[in-house]
Amino acid sequence: MTNNIYLVANWKMYGGPSNLKSLNKVINLRKLKKYRKANIIYFPPFTLISNLVSKFKKTNISVGGQNCHYQENYGSFTGSISPKMLKDLGCKYVILGHSENRILGDTDEIINKKIQSALNKKLKIIFCIGETLSEKKSKLTFSVLKRQINKGLKRIKNFQKIIIAYEPVWSIGTGIIPKNKELETNVGKIRNIFSKKTKKKMLILYGGSVNSKNISILKNISGIDGFLIGSASQNSKKFIDIIKKTIN
Ligand code: PGA
Repeated sequence: MTNNIYLVANWKMYGGPSNLKSLNKVINLRKLKKYRKANIIYFPPFTLISNLVSKFKKTNISVGGQNCHYQENYGSFTGSISPKMLKDLGCKYVILGHSENRILGDTDEIINKKIQSALNKKLKIIFCIGETLSEKKSKLTFSVLKRQINKGLKRIKNFQKIIIAYEPVWSIGTGIIPKNKELETNVGKIRNIFSKKTKKKMLILYGGSVNSKNISILKNISGIDGFLIGSASQNSKKFIDIIKKTIN
């Protein structure tokens, strides 16, 4: 792991008002100097964004949206949230390209439009990429990652506003994690793709079944800048455990 650590909590479609109180524990942990250096970002469902923004006001914990529409401002898109709306709520980030939204129809082209709009609204992006199990078995991992990056980031220039989350689809929510060697190889490949695009060293996170047990293994992946944590982040006790083990 590098020194600039990101611990990102993706609550997915989980959580309500009763989940807010336990966040005090995370805020208290954050007061200890040792744990202040990590970048902590929460992605609650849209319904809790305001609550988390006000709760984290005096902390340096950031909040983001789990997705957004490609229309920057307002429009006739029932059920959608725009980058402007996220920004107005106090979000600093948005997750785009998550496999759970790719399955629902987010193509590389749509993701590209969303990224462009979100950047125009000064949001930072957590850009998710990753191969499915059948793509991995067919040895297509590299070409899939390359396509997702090239198409998803077409015409995008401000790479400093983008954090990559490498999430093999087969490890999301399955309890199966890649071997560190495999991860290092794939992270190396991702860096290679970016080396042709920018001089900047991209921030790259790993996501997929990260929990308080496997974090001690995963944190040894060289070249990684942190983790995107789904279900294990929904419980503050488990998330705190992950924070402590990552930073120790
Ligand atoms: P998981 O989800 O940790 O529950 O596997 C990760 C993600 O989808 O971001």
